[in-house]
Order: sequence, then C-alpha cells, then structure tokens
Amino acid sequence: MSRYTITTALPYANGPLHIGHLAGVYVPADVFARFLRRKEHDVILIGGSDEHGIPITIRAKKEGVTPQDVVDRYHEMMKKTFKELGISYDNYSRTTLPLHTQTTQDFFLKLYNDGKFIEEETEQYYDEKAGEFLADRYIVGTCPKCGNTNAYGDQCEKCGSTLSPDELIEPHSMLSGEKPILKKTKHWYLPLNDYQDFIADWILKGHKNDWKPNVYGQVKSWLDDGLKPRAMTRDLDWGVPVPLESERGKVLYVWFDAPIGYISSTQEWAEKNGKDWRPYWQDENTKLVHFIAKDNIVFHCIIFPAMLMAHGGFILPDNVPANEFLNLENDKISTSRNWAVWAHEYLEDFPEKQDTLRYVLLSNAPETKDNNFTWRDFQTKNNSELVGIFGNFINRVAVLIHKYYGSAVPQLSNESDYPELKELSASAKEISNYLYKYEFRNALNALMNLARLGNQFLQTQEPWKTIKEQPEKAKDALFVSAQIAAYLAELSEPFIPFTSQKIMEGLNLSRHSWNELENNAILLLSGHKINQIPLLFEKIEDEAINRQISKLEESKKKNTMTDITVAPQKETISYDDFTKIDLRVGTILEAKKVEKADKLLQFKIDTGIDVRTIVSGIAQSFSPEELVGKQVTVLLNLAPRKIKGIESQGMLLLTQKPDGKFSFITPDNEIDNGTEIN
Ligand code: MF3
Ligand code: ZN
Repeated sequence: MSRYTITTALPYANGPLHIGHLAGVYVPADVFARFLRRKEHDVILIGGSDEHGIPITIRAKKEGVTPQDVVDRYHEMMKKTFKELGISYDNYSRTTLPLHTQTTQDFFLKLYNDGKFIEEETEQYYDEKAGEFLADRYIVGTCPKCGNTNAYGDQCEKCGSTLSPDELIEPHSMLSGEKPILKKTKHWYLPLNDYQDFIADWILKGHKNDWKPNVYGQVKSWLDDGLKPRAMTRDLDWGVPVPLESERGKVLYVWFDAPIGYISSTQEWAEKNGKDWRPYWQDENTKLVHFIAKDNIVFHCIIFPAMLMAHGGFILPDNVPANEFLNLENDKISTSRNWAVWAHEYLEDFPEKQDTLRYVLLSNAPETKDNNFTWRDFQTKNNSELVGIFGNFINRVAVLIHKYYGSAVPQLSNESDYPELKELSASAKEISNYLYKYEFRNALNALMNLARLGNQFLQTQEPWKTIKEQPEKAKDALFVSAQIAAYLAELSEPFIPFTSQKIMEGLNLSRHSWNELENNAILLLSGHKINQIPLLFEKIEDEAINRQISKLEESKKKNTMTDITVAPQKETISYDDFTKIDLRVGTILEAKKVEKADKLLQFKIDTGIDVRTIVSGIAQSFSPEELVGKQVTVLLNLAPRKIKGIESQGMLLLTQKPDGKFSFITPDNEIDNGTEIN
C-alpha cells in the first residue's frame, strides 16, 4: 500500500467550468483517485479554486464588481459542479482562505530568510493616470510578429506568439488608454537557473520512460533554452500580500501562491479530519501526482518543484500526467466566443446523465494529442455503447434471473466449461495496469470489452432457448452472466460511479476491494437474491442533440456579429514606402501539411519569376488538396525566415474572419503569374 497525494489544477474562479476542463483534468483525476482507493492505498484528492491573478481582476473590472464578488460566485459554482459530477474530492478549498494566505506567506518568508531570492530593481510599465503598474495583460499594442493591433503584453492571440510588453509596438494601457511610462520597482526573483541541473537530472534522466512524452518534451525544451530567474512578486492590489513590512502594495505572483494552494487545501483537510498533513507532502514514500492541462506544464514541472526544493523538506511530483486540449465540434473551446459546453448547463439540460458525460469525455480524453468533442459522437456513444452494450447486458441478466429463478442466482454445474469466468479477474488486472499508467481511454475500453464479452456470451448461450431442454445449461449461463454483471458493477465504479452504485444496489452486492477482484472472486453465490435494476442509461433522441447544436450555432452567429472590431487606421506612409512592397499574383502548384505542426501548410508557388516555398499558418482553414491551382496574392520581398526548419520565401496575403477562418485575396479573373499589384 502506498500513499498518494493527487492534486488537480486549481481552476481560476473567473468563469464556469466547461467540458475541456473536465476531460483534461478533473474526470481523469477522479477516476485515478477512486481506483487507488479501491486498491486500498492511502489517497487524498485535493482541489480548490484559484482566486488570485489577472484573469480575476479583468473579469471584475468588466462587470464593475469587486474581485471578491467574482471569486465568491464562481467558487461556489465550480464546487457545486464538481460535486454533482461525482468528482470525489477529499477537500476542495480556495486561495482567498486565511489559512492559505498564512501558509503562502510563511513559505515566502522561509525562502526570503534563507536567502533563496534575488532582489532586483527593474523598470516596468506604469499607468500614470490610473496610478498603477500594469500587468502584461493590461498592456495592448501592435504585435511585432503579425501586426495585430490588439496584442497583449504577454501574448498575441492572433498569431499565438509569446510576447513581453517591451516588444509591443505603440503600447497603451487598458486601464486609461494612455501610453504607459517606465518606472522603477523592486521585486524578488527565484533563480530557477540554480535548479537547472537538478531538474534535468530528476526529470530528463529519471522520468524519461514513465512521464508522458508531451510533458517530457516541454520540460526538455525549457531546459534546453536555459532556466532564468523569475519574479515571484507583482505590483498589484489583488493577491496574497508580500509579507514584508517595507513592501506595501505588492503581492505574490499568482503562480507562487496557487500551487501552494495544494498544500493549504491539504492542511484544511487535515484540520477538519483530525489528520496530519505532513506525510502527504513530506514523506518520501508518498507519491505526489499533479493532474493538469498542457498549458500548466512548466509551472508544475519546473517552477513549483524549484519552490519546493528552495524551501526544503518537500517531496517532488512522482508524475504530472498533463493532457492536451479538447476541441468542440472541430473548433477551439473559447470562453470569450462562448464556444463551449458549460458543465452547469449540461447538468441542467441532461439531469441524471453525469455518467454519460464522464464516459464520453474519458473515451475521448485528449491524452496524447488534442481531441474533439461532437454532440453526434456524444449521442452515439450514449446510445450504442452505454445503452446498447453496457446497460443492455446488465438489464438482460437481471430480467432473466427474475423470470426463471425467482430472483436468485442459479447453481453452476461445471466451472471449467466457462473460460469467461477467468476473464473477470483478468479484466480487473488489465484495467488496473492501464490506470497505473494513466491510460484512461485504454482502461475504459477494457471495461467495455468485458460488457461486450457478456453480451456475446448470452447471445451464444441463448438461455431463453436452453431453459426447456437443457435447464442445467441455462443455469450455468445465468450464473456466469451474473458474475460478469457483478464485475461490471465493481470495475465501472471509477469511471461511471453513479451507474455503478445503481447496479450494486440492484444486484444486492457490497463492494469488494480491487485486489479481491483481481483474485478470482466469485461475487454472487448461487442462491443470492437480487433486486430490481433501475434504468441505467436512456437513449438520447435527435431532438436533444439538435437543441445543443443550435445553441452552438447561436454562439457562432453572435460572434460573427459582435466580433468585428475594425482596427483603427495605421500611421501614414509615403508612396515610396508603398512601392517598396513587391506584391504579385502567383499560383499554388503544390500544397501539403507540415509534419508535427497542425497549423502549417507548405506551398510551392509559381510567382512568375520563380517557383518558391512559402509556409503559412492556415492548415485549420483549408485542406491542401483544395488549394492546388488557386491564384493568390504573394508578398515577394519579405525577408525569408525559417518556420519549423523550412525556409519560407515570402508571404501569402489572407484575411481572417472573427471565427478564425482564413480567406485568400484572389484576383477575380485569371491573371498571368508575376503580374504586379499596385
Ligand atoms: N488557475 C490555473 C489555470 O487555470 C491553474 C493553477 S494550478 C495551480 O491555468 F497549481 F497553480 F494551482
Ligand atoms: Zn501576432
């Protein structure tokens, strides 16, 4: 038996949860925790709301309420959603809790007193009118890479580049609209570079084979770039105050405070339950596992571990099974575009169907690559797998036992005739092996294979036929089927706990540990009386699905109507400036996808002058085949640059609609390649 501390990324309390959160983090973490409990490990599943950080203050400003109002609302909402979906938290906390402030400040002071920080004065953007230093997100300007005039100080959402505020062209403050000035300010930096060698050893050498390739790869690329000191304090008024007398008006960086939230949530749990939190964070035999999405990898694999090491006395994560992203109907989930299935709305629209959602999200979990949720697929999985295979089998077994044997499990005449009985503990072992490796989809599939086996078994045995001429055979068939049903009830619990519970009650069965299940247990002895099985899964009709699809179509329509913000005119240029730009008509000769880059297409373009290679980030709007032969506008004299190792010798002119789709600027008649555009 081992001890496990399982954490789930603390979601920002600035909006409701959607299926992307659930599929990436919370449902898999819950499956893992439930499974380990059944394996009789000492497990805590820890969560909470991340209530600090810029996303919260931006939301509050938009709504004209206080940040505390925002987090109070969404904390309650998320907590309720998790509960309703059966996420079996041992504790769900929040980072505005006084205990959390205390723990975080103590942590900071320990590092401060031990001389683990570098103190540094730098110049940062300051809004004189608002009287505030500006977080990167509060500075808007033109992206130096793509010219988007609405890029943020930390990122351009149009081309996806990571930016720093000083790279922005014509930066201005989102608070006052004014141009910010640079002003001196003091901050405390954690020199991540001091931990570089240790982290390289620990992860690159130590976890090459057991950590997921996406996690390992991201860590490696950060390490290859070389770790640098990172500021752990900010000039903001929302956050955990820096616990130094001299430093009023500064708070701790949200990524310093939030992961400490895992520790304070554990402390809260320990206080409530009369336990000691320390072994869960400090005993070397404890396995710490962080469930997160891919955008959190660096924080959990590098920054938080560095903090823990700097503090001393803490264990480091045993694994960080980060998932990729889940798309919705082939499009990126987006809160601002309302392109999402919101968990609380789902629970309203499909009451009592928590398990269907858990099942579909797990079977589609974006474990190794981004994955896609569609309502049609949701319907099919519910109707043909949950209703058609799983529910149907359990139901048939119960009905036949009630009908033929007065609700009592019949006698088995000859065990060795039924290899199916051996499959039961084999299934338990198979699922177990997958779950220890964080392969949730495979685990779920193994469970479904057992249900399939059950159906096939009944179908070939046909007890409804043998009952007359060969009653012993019919008894055998139902004895064996009853065991399969019982195993399904037990083994499905981590995945679809509500359904599992219903079957347990229906079969009048009490829980066994997973280890017993792996040991050829016979769960239902002959003579055992079963109860009625309630309806487990219900068919979902087209109508319900169509309603969801039109909801999404509404969002799409609204987005195209409201998102058209016309950028202001740029600075005047001279005619000479203009003539420097060499624009021509060209024809696409070849187009293909760039390997390992899901956005990029590589073209061969006949420019009239030559045939050249151009790479363009439009793969999500077009398939390569449809573009061959198309006439396009080409910027010829753009300095060549390497994209994914391919030299791009120019640029194709395109526009992008608010929904993200690109269109080409194409001459409306066929024109010779190489013709100038002016
Ligand atoms: N709130 C962050 C996000 O949603 C996750 C915080 S995880 C923690 O991306 F480790 F900081 F808690
Ligand atoms: Zn850009």
